[in-house]
Amino acid sequence: MARRRPIAAANWKMNLLRRDAEDYCRHIASDLGEPAAEVLIFPPATLLQTVAEGLTGTGVGVGGQDLHTAAEGAHTGDLSGVQLADVGCTWALCGHSERRKDHGESDSLVGRKALAANEHGLVPLICLGESDEERRAGRTFEVLERQLKAALETTPAAFELAYEPVWAIGTGATATPEIAQEAHAFLRQQLAKEVGKQRAQATRILYGGSVKPENAAELIAPEDIDGFLVGGASLDSTKFLAIIMACGASARV
Ligand code: 13P
Repeated sequence: MARRRPIAAANWKMNLLRRDAEDYCRHIASDLGEPAAEVLIFPPATLLQTVAEGLTGTGVGVGGQDLHTAAEGAHTGDLSGVQLADVGCTWALCGHSERRKDHGESDSLVGRKALAANEHGLVPLICLGESDEERRAGRTFEVLERQLKAALETTPAAFELAYEPVWAIGTGATATPEIAQEAHAFLRQQLAKEVGKQRAQATRILYGGSVKPENAAELIAPEDIDGFLVGGASLDSTKFLAIIMACGASARV
């Protein structure tokens, strides 16, 4: 069976300023070409418009790092799916572990956010993953099953997944390809129970956690790893381009 088209996604988190984003977009626009991988960037809210405009015509998708479940209203500091779509977004991250930790987002809220994204024409990239403590206690699969079930409770029509083990985020402690493949295969198996085998086979499951140009080629090799959600290394356009190319190479094998 042909492989799913891989995705190379950049999550800038709370980093970069306007000038940086403009330079970054110029570099991507001139050197990207026609990549085999689908490319996404999740800038902070202040840079959404800069990136959407800077990458017009390149085919790169832009997404918000979070969204509120409501379309509008009295929610200070939040952004809605309508507002994300209004600045040119077509994607939204849902349930990133930093949102779960810093903002107490529950499993069920993640599902409601995924549905809200769909309602405004955005594809949610639903993030899940176990903590170090949970992995050490042998609870990885239990946690993934619980998070996935809750995220799909609202039956979002379109979504993709990102497996981001919390212990590998920003730590330099990347999961081995074997550990990542095991978790991805488990998620795809659970996904088949939730949405059927065909849809489970078509869903892209990205890996996130200390991905860099040096480990991208070996991490993309296992069959259930369909790309990356990259934090730190994605802040450097040269490194992100190298990761995009490593993802793309897997599409041709
Ligand atoms: P790092 O690549 O910095 O480990 O971050 C991963 C991540 O959280 C992407 O969403």
